[in-house]
Amino acid sequence: MRETKNDRVQDVNNMLEIRDLWKSYGTKTILHGLTMSVKEGRVISLIGPSGSGKTTLLRCINFLEKSDSGSIRIDDLSADLSKVSAAQKMALRRKTAMVFQNYALFLNNSVGQNVMEGLIVSKKMPKEKARAIALDMLDKVGLKSRFESKPFELSGGQQQRVGIARALALNPKVILFDEPTSALDPETVNEILDVIKCVAQSGVTMLIVTHEMMFAYDIATQVIFMDKGEIVEQGEAKELFDAPREERTKQFLLRFNLARDSEYYI
Ligand SMILES: Nc1ncnc2c1ncn2[C@@H]1O[C@H](COP(=O)(O)OP(=O)(O)OP(=O)(O)O)[C@@H](O)[C@H]1O
Ligand SMILES: [Mg+2]
Repeated sequence: MRETKNDRVQDVNNMLEIRDLWKSYGTKTILHGLTMSVKEGRVISLIGPSGSGKTTLLRCINFLEKSDSGSIRIDDLSADLSKVSAAQKMALRRKTAMVFQNYALFLNNSVGQNVMEGLIVSKKMPKEKARAIALDMLDKVGLKSRFESKPFELSGGQQQRVGIARALALNPKVILFDEPTSALDPETVNEILDVIKCVAQSGVTMLIVTHEMMFAYDIATQVIFMDKGEIVEQGEAKELFDAPREERTKQFLLRFNLARDSEYYI
């Protein structure tokens, strides 16, 4: 069942709901009243041309950017984005964690310290407990033995795995990935995609911005296609890729679908 941008999104099974989100930079409107919902445990791929507002949307959800208006609900917390209080913002931020394209690690700190940081600073967790969680999360991404290493001693793929461990350590309800593989060479991409697939199985809700169409197709239960700051179409991954309804989606997916078909027929 496909949803249009004006469908009602109030649903207790939704982990994330956004309604009529507007965001401008100066006089330029970037997000034009986005409405979307994500059910608990689902993996959503967010695709669309460069400049369509994907990163801005993630940053608004994570409160790294201030939205102009709209509303948000994550899990049991909701807020009116035009007048969100500092306390509401902090509580909502704790529900999400972000994985960045360029890893965004503290280069002077060890791998372990990078993963522990959020637990100690924002969750006020005792150091020993934070250390145990960090070791556990690094183990999940295959980097337990690199706890004391500095980021520069790791490959790009390994640094991104640290970024994922850091997000997991916060035990978020929703993980927001912004092009987690685009800074990596093609071989390393698969290493990260495997880790993300593993995380997906743990049942955490994930919103993944990606230009890797095969990955988007493969991992996502649902795909959202954005263009020019609007959600053009959203639906089940297979349905949207195999039979896009909107002309803009068809055009965007044309090259990917042609490549996929020709591979299939070889
Ligand atoms: N801090 C900013 N100040 C002004 N304009 C911005 C800012 N950040 C983004 N924009 C503009 O907002 C629009 C959407 O940018 P955004 O980075 O969200 O796109 P995107 O879909 O993530 O693109 P890409 O696929 O290239 O990463 C672009 O026109 C961009 O120039
Ligand atoms: Mg972007």
